[in-house]
Amino acid sequence: MFRTPHPRRPRRALGALAVSVSAAAVAAAGLIPAGQAGAAANTLRGLAEAKGIYFGTAIGQGDLNNTTLTAVAGTQFGMLTPTNEMKWESVEPSPGSFDFGPGDRIVAFGQAHSMRLRGHTLVWHNQLPSWVDKLPTSQVQTAMRNHITTTAGHYKGKLYAWDVVNELFNENGTFREDAFYRAMGSGYVADALRTARAADPGAKLYLNDYNIEGLNAKSDALYNLAKSLKSQGVPLDGVGFQAHFVVGQVPASLKANLERFTALGLEVAVTELDDRMQLPPDSTKLAQQARDYANVVTTCLAVKGCVGLSQWDVGDGDSWIPGTFPGEGAGTMYDNNYQPKPAYYASVDALGGSSTPSPSPTPTPTPTPTPTPTLTPTPTDGAACKVTAELNAWNTGLTENLRVTNTGSSTVNGWALSFTLPTGQTVTGAWNATVAPAAGRLTAGNLGYNGTIVPGGSVSFGFQATHTGNAGPAGQFSLNGVPCGAA
Ligand code: XIL
Repeated sequence: MFRTPHPRRPRRALGALAVSVSAAAVAAAGLIPAGQAGAAANTLRGLAEAKGIYFGTAIGQGDLNNTTLTAVAGTQFGMLTPTNEMKWESVEPSPGSFDFGPGDRIVAFGQAHSMRLRGHTLVWHNQLPSWVDKLPTSQVQTAMRNHITTTAGHYKGKLYAWDVVNELFNENGTFREDAFYRAMGSGYVADALRTARAADPGAKLYLNDYNIEGLNAKSDALYNLAKSLKSQGVPLDGVGFQAHFVVGQVPASLKANLERFTALGLEVAVTELDDRMQLPPDSTKLAQQARDYANVVTTCLAVKGCVGLSQWDVGDGDSWIPGTFPGEGAGTMYDNNYQPKPAYYASVDALGGSSTPSPSPTPTPTPTPTPTPTLTPTPTDGAACKVTAELNAWNTGLTENLRVTNTGSSTVNGWALSFTLPTGQTVTGAWNATVAPAAGRLTAGNLGYNGTIVPGGSVSFGFQATHTGNAGPAGQFSLNGVPCGAA
């Protein structure tokens, strides 16, 4: 049976978030030169963009202090949605008094990482300040128009899309009788869309809802509304499918449902993907979750007009699920330590990624480095490896992704890549490899799943580091003791 995923009371206290972001984090977020943050080929973002879609995530302003989270968000994802910072209660907590600071910080982070941005959300019954609910019905339209005009106007030109109205239908397909419906009837939707178009003509305007992913009464209602709005020339560009799934329950009719919306001339997007399970996770549930993620990614790729997918939150430790569905969680592609889960690798596979390690279906993957050097090149082999780097740096930190290609003629079974960091750089975290020590001459060792590099094949891993002024790239690479050739 359906349970509403939306608590009246937000799990995260917005007031607390408002003070928790440090000046350093804000400065860091704002100072990365746009353009340096490119899409690495084997990231979710890079693979998705190569296929013509985006892969996004959602973060809150408190997340900006978490360097591991921001490193993952800034490299793996190409679209960003603020989890709470553009909602009415955050933006206009009292009538006519607007605070765009938190939302602006998310926008700055996204811009610094060349990400697209999704505005979420202008009109929603939830996280709506009580003053709106208490207004006489005769004043609600003016308040709604003012809120949309001011908010969409503030972000004009910066957002890919706005979720103009969020969660407008009940499960049986009737309109949710919120303050807007009570005041204006169903016409509030067209009014909100027209107002948003006038405020930011460049943003795609969406209606967004949950439990509309399959063919059912609720998606029928949204379909009929969208069709009617289109026929009246109301500015509606897309429909967002939140996709808060339960493992093993991705609707079989997802593709057919998306296609009936695109047939109306609308774009569609998966806007808040997660796939929860009863805790604790086990290998069976994680394997099913991997299949679910792959299914959703494959479906979006197969539907012309599906412009992209966004996961809601970055890792399981950030997710809203445990606070809203007691006993459930583990819905994202990253575990509590930001280690990629089977769902991540399945998504990479579904996007056509190469060098994808086989999913290791353990609830909390603790891969052990097993460098067992077997590459023993003769002196005439010359360099048997090539390393290419992608560096994203800001004033106090950086992330660097390294791709190691085996240019020799023997398969490498277990690798240890040594390299030197510029003075002042200190590694604070790594992905797809173990990296030690933290500074100076380092060695990155393979994890259990990516130890083999066939001739001509490659693996990639990355790390984040702080720096004291020299944000240059790592150098002097050698693979299993053999210096690598120039990239
Ligand atoms: C959630 C946030 O992630 C939580 O931090 C907050 O406490 C409640 O809202 N559908 C939506 C999102 O459209 O806005 C919700 O976000 C999750 C469900």
